[in-house]
Amino acid sequence: MVCLGNICRSPLAEGILKSKVYSFKTFVDSAGTGAYHVGEKPDKRSIAIAKQNGIDITDQKARKFTKEDFKLFDLIYVMDNSNYNNVVSLASNEVEKEKVKLILNEVFPGENLDVPDPYYGGDFGFKNVYNMLDEACNIIAQQLNNNG
Ligand code: 4NP
Repeated sequence: MVCLGNICRSPLAEGILKSKVYSFKTFVDSAGTGAYHVGEKPDKRSIAIAKQNGIDITDQKARKFTKEDFKLFDLIYVMDNSNYNNVVSLASNEVEKEKVKLILNEVFPGENLDVPDPYYGGDFGFKNVYNMLDEACNIIAQQLNNNG
């Protein structure tokens, strides 16, 4: 799960997906394309909305996405089109590029919609982001769980 800062959207996506996946073969992680918040815990507002939904994301620490992640992960879900362009620009080949998917295309195939960056907004933005990610993660988890 990848966003810009790895403190608002992708930590929520990581926590939500982990709560839905029960395949032991699946490893879920998150990262940011920017390094501004490396080493920090998720934003307080992400921690709060996760907690309201029974998910604890306080152990997460922000890290920057690296080219190595293309080797380590089969699927790379990005939150918005800017993240998409940044991540794809680091891919070494077509196989790596095809691992990168806009997360909301799981819910709205082919529409290339962004999960809005809630950083400068209020709590409503975080609730809205939570609901979008929850819906997308239901679909992703179903696919992962079905594949063993
Ligand atoms: P995120 O939100 O990409 O969902 O973690 C942001 C957090 C911090 C910044 C931008 C987006 N920032 O510019 O510091």
